[in-house]
Amino acid sequence: MDVFQAIIQRYSCRSYDPRPIEPEKLTKLLEAARFAPSARNCQDWRFVVVTDSDTRTKLCEAAYDQKSFTEAPAVIVACSNSNHVMRCGQPVAPIDVAIALEHIALQAVELGLATCWIGSFYPDKVKAILGIPADINIIELMTVGYPADLQPAPKRQPLETIACFEKWSF
Ligand SMILES: Cc1cc2nc3c(=O)[nH]c(=O)nc-3n(C[C@H](O)[C@H](O)[C@H](O)COP(=O)(O)O)c2cc1C
Repeated sequence: MDVFQAIIQRYSCRSYDPRPIEPEKLTKLLEAARFAPSARNCQDWRFVVVTDSDTRTKLCEAAYDQKSFTEAPAVIVACSNSNHVMRCGQPVAPIDVAIALEHIALQAVELGLATCWIGSFYPDKVKAILGIPADINIIELMTVGYPADLQPAPKRQPLETIACFEKWSF
């Protein structure tokens, strides 16, 4: 599968077949994250992969009862131990972790899996459930599994409304 194909086939999956993900596929997803770029190559991301059903049920409650948590055979809790702010003024942690998570999302497509980014959760509740130290930032969660729904038609703005050439001309 070429990269663009994976990009256009990725969608936010909210209904999963509960069958487990093969361990080698889970490893490949994490390897895809490992090879992501990061500011100063610090690689300050940390990923907690939750497959245990009872723990996913607890995470479901911590994520405003998004039911896909109980169906998806894996939830990736993406964290960072960086508080570094780049010279441009932007924090490293959410950027680096987001790139790595999108590597996971695209690799998942190639493996026949689907994902959903999850930003709607209580970080303190997730920390308590998983024993994540207070000084670690949880950036995002991601559900992963075999899809039980179909890809909806992607809704995107036309290219000319989001990109211009040479000078700002929006
Ligand atoms: C940072 C981020 C946080 C998101 N949080 C949630 C979430 O908590 N729950 C959810 O169902 N979808 C969540 N989404 C999915 C978006 O709603 C989805 O990406 C968007 O509607 C575009 O649809 P698509 O991913 O199917 O192309 C999130 C996406 C991103 C990038």
